[in-house]
Order: sequence, then C-alpha cells, then structure tokens
Amino acid sequence: MIAIIGTGLIGCSWAALMAASGRRVVIHDTRPEAGRAVAEFWDSVKPALVELGLAGDTTEPDFQVESSLEAAVSRADFVFENIPERLDAKRALYAAMEPHLKPDAIVATSSSGLELSDLQEGWQNPGRLIIGHPFNPPHLVPLVELYANDRTDPDVLPRARALYESCGKVTITLKREVMGHVANRLQAALWREAIHLVDAGVASVKDVNAAIWAGPGLRWAIMGPHMLLNLGGGEGGLRAYCEQFTQSYTEWWDDLGKPQLTPETIDRLVEGLAEEIGGRDYATLRRQRDDQLVAVLKALGETRKTPAAPEHA
Ligand SMILES: NC(=O)c1ccc[n+]([C@@H]2O[C@H](COP(=O)([O-])OP(=O)(O)OC[C@H]3O[C@@H](n4cnc5c(N)ncnc54)[C@H](O)[C@@H]3O)[C@@H](O)[C@H]2O)c1
Repeated sequence: MIAIIGTGLIGCSWAALMAASGRRVVIHDTRPEAGRAVAEFWDSVKPALVELGLAGDTTEPDFQVESSLEAAVSRADFVFENIPERLDAKRALYAAMEPHLKPDAIVATSSSGLELSDLQEGWQNPGRLIIGHPFNPPHLVPLVELYANDRTDPDVLPRARALYESCGKVTITLKREVMGHVANRLQAALWREAIHLVDAGVASVKDVNAAIWAGPGLRWAIMGPHMLLNLGGGEGGLRAYCEQFTQSYTEWWDDLGKPQLTPETIDRLVEGLAEEIGGRDYATLRRQRDDQLVAVLKALGETRKTPAAPEHA
C-alpha cells in the first residue's frame, strides 16, 4: 500500500503513477477537495500513461481518500510526502505521522531542496526518512534524486530505489548533502544566466527560451553536459575540448551575471513571456508540454512496461 500525503501538483502526479502500476493508493490532504483533484488528474493523464506503457487500457486506479493522517499512513509500506516546501510544516507533519507508521515503512520526501539532516530533526527513528526528489511532472519525467545519510537504515535506500525504478524512474544518488540537490542547482545556474541575459538587454525572453529548447536543451535530453562536450572535443574527447576551450570558459565564467529577482526584473520576465504565451492558458501550455514530453520519451525509448509491484508495496 502506498500513501500520498499532500496532493497538489506533485502529489497528484505521484498518485497517478503509483495507481497506474496497479498499486493501492491511499491519499491524504488537508484540502477537502483533494479526492476530486486526484481523480480529475488521473483522467487527464491516463492517455499519456497508457501511451508510455505505464498503465494498461483498462487500468482502474485504486484510490482511497483518507481524511485522517493516522489512518492514511498506518497501512502504508511507502509514504510519498509532498506538502509545501516549508521545514516547519514538514517537521510538524512527521511528528504527527511517525507514531502511526508501520515499523518498516519508508517515508520519501519530494522536497526540492531542503536538507535531509534538517528534516530528520524531531524523529524518534530518522532511519526511515529519505529524499526522493522528482522533477515536475513526476509521472512523465524519469529523474528521481535520492539521498540517504548515515542515520538512514541500510535497507531504506535500496528499497526506495527499487520502488522508483519499478515504475520507470531513473534514479541518481547524492553522495553528500547539498541544498537544492543536483538537478535544481543545475537548473538554478542556467536560469540565473537566462535572467541576466534578459536584464542586460542581450536578448528577449522568447529568444533566450529558444536558445535552450532549439539548441543545447535538445541535446541534453540525450546526453549530459560532460558527455556532450566529450563529443565536442572530437577524437580527443573531453581532454581535447578542455585544451581548446579552457581559456574561453574561464573568461565566460568570470563574465556571468548575478541577477536578483527584484520586482522590476520579475515584471520584465513576465511581460517578455506574455509575448511568447500569446494568450494560451495554463491548461493548454501544460498539455503541450506533456504531449511533447511523451513524444520525446517514446522517441528516446525511455518507455517500458512497469514490472509487477514489488512485494513491500
Ligand atoms: N512544484 C514543483 O515543480 C516541484 C517539483 C519537485 C518537487 N517539489 C516538491 O514537492 C513538494 C510539494 O510541492 P507542490 O508543488 O506539489 O505543492 P502544492 O502547493 O501544489 O501542494 C501541496 C499540497 O499539500 C497540501 N498540504 C499542505 N499541508 C498539508 C498537511 N499538513 N497535510 C496534508 N496535506 C497538506 C496542500 O493542501 C496541497 O494540496 C514540495 O516539497 C516541493 O518542493 C515541487
């Protein structure tokens, strides 16, 4: 049994993926309309899950809505925690949840960047808590970043990894704690310069976006930056690339911007983006993103049938 605690953007997506794999899913949220939100989300993403082989045509989700936190977690083998990114709120939730967990239950937080050692404070047994950070939307994007530390029970990381990988996720494991984990730090570095280029009047919001999606972004869907630059060095590989470009990168790095998200900068970005959005609403943009993500995943062969649910779930 899977428990999904907090069913906003991320919780709904995890709930859909878990239900698609035939698992029983109990959901709990402080919003009374959470059950309806999860059901509507399932209806909207089921075609994509079927297309990717992650759900069958006839799959009916086994969602159970539970208004009591205690009841929601008490039967769960694996708890996905997806409440807002606030340390105090997460700590309060864990304190309420821990006495009702099964002895071998795992709690995975989707936290985008909080540190595990901070989240472990207040637990009687912090050994069951792990970072399992997805990328939005988790039912489509394969990456999950895992982090466990020396207070984590030894079986927790491999069990968590097995659960994620059983539903098509690609896991990476952090070797040490760092705020923002890996992927959000990389995203933050890129976004910082994307903002600077607009702020400094180098290019429009639309052109900065195109510089990624029509350029390196397309390659990054296939290989990571170190591997791609290895190819950029020709037969000599990354070493040759470094010999040729160390001087250039050193100068570029020195010249990168350090913008702040001031109200003026936010206005400039929002106004610039409006031109590119051209009146499309949130649902339309989301559908475009998800349809194209499915197409990319299929083209890359990332899709695979979800193996049977492991015994512990
Ligand atoms: N939004 C993203 O792109 C993204 C990506 C990856 C990870 N995350 C992480 O996932 C987590 C959730 O983010 P989100 O964007 O889904 O947030 P959200 O605001 O969309 O959803 C949070 C949900 O938690 C519920 N909630 C709040 N307090 C609760 C409580 N005490 N008990 C039960 N439910 C409660 C809210 O009613 C809401 O439905 C955060 O830790 C965030 O950092 C977000």
